[in-house]
Amino acid sequence: MSGSGPEIRVFPDSGSVSRAAAGFIVSLAERTIASRNRFTFALSGGSTPKELYGLLASSPYREEIAWHAVHLFWADERCVPPDHPESNYKMARETLLSGVPVPDRNIHRIRGEEDPCTAAREYENDLRTFFGSGLPAFDLVLLGAGEDGHTASLFPASASLLEKKRLALPISADPPKLSRVTITLPVLNNAHEVLFLAIGRRKAGILHEIMEDGNPKGYPAGLVQPVHGVVTWIIDHQAAGALAGTEGKKLRR
Ligand code: 6PG
Repeated sequence: MSGSGPEIRVFPDSGSVSRAAAGFIVSLAERTIASRNRFTFALSGGSTPKELYGLLASSPYREEIAWHAVHLFWADERCVPPDHPESNYKMARETLLSGVPVPDRNIHRIRGEEDPCTAAREYENDLRTFFGSGLPAFDLVLLGAGEDGHTASLFPASASLLEKKRLALPISADPPKLSRVTITLPVLNNAHEVLFLAIGRRKAGILHEIMEDGNPKGYPAGLVQPVHGVVTWIIDHQAAGALAGTEGKKLRR
């Protein structure tokens, strides 16, 4: 499947995108737990996945996942305390974690309250302890894409895109921007499955550049091409914009 480009599924609106993503995750978790006895799932922040997280924590999706076998990680975190409004952990706690019986020991958050270097090093240690030596292979990484083409906290034309060895990196920024911690491209590209969500007209331009134009500018979201894995985009009509598509239709690059 690798090398075939992403699969793109287009839905009418944000609600149907979130339901399609919830169905995708339930089905993948079920298959993965049946074969590997666990499901390692890296979450993202941003506004797009909030509705999805709420669905996963509600019937009927909630009951369809064996939460005791789910291990939650984060693709990235802002360097703020876990109760800060900008914390990706806080968003996931309020929308998802508070509603599902995932054991505390299975929740591997990035400690945004630390300085970025310490937080990245600790998260990398956590990943190595959990996955063992070599690159972690997440069963699923959920990602969003910024209008500038960033994904997780990998920003266009940044040195972080060249990283080959580290699993997690500090991304320092001057206020008012927030420093962040992100997993790196080698980790993203070692995942079994990557699911991108994109909703709204403001994402149409960057999606077009990433998908239709072969990503010549090297946008980070387009650099996510797992070596042995699959990338799926679940998007709405507005984000699809110029990527001609119909409801639920699968497009291939
Ligand atoms: C974050 C993210 C980031 C996000 C995109 C899209 O912490 O902000 O993980 O990469 O996915 O910026 O954000 P929206 O969903 O808000 O458009």
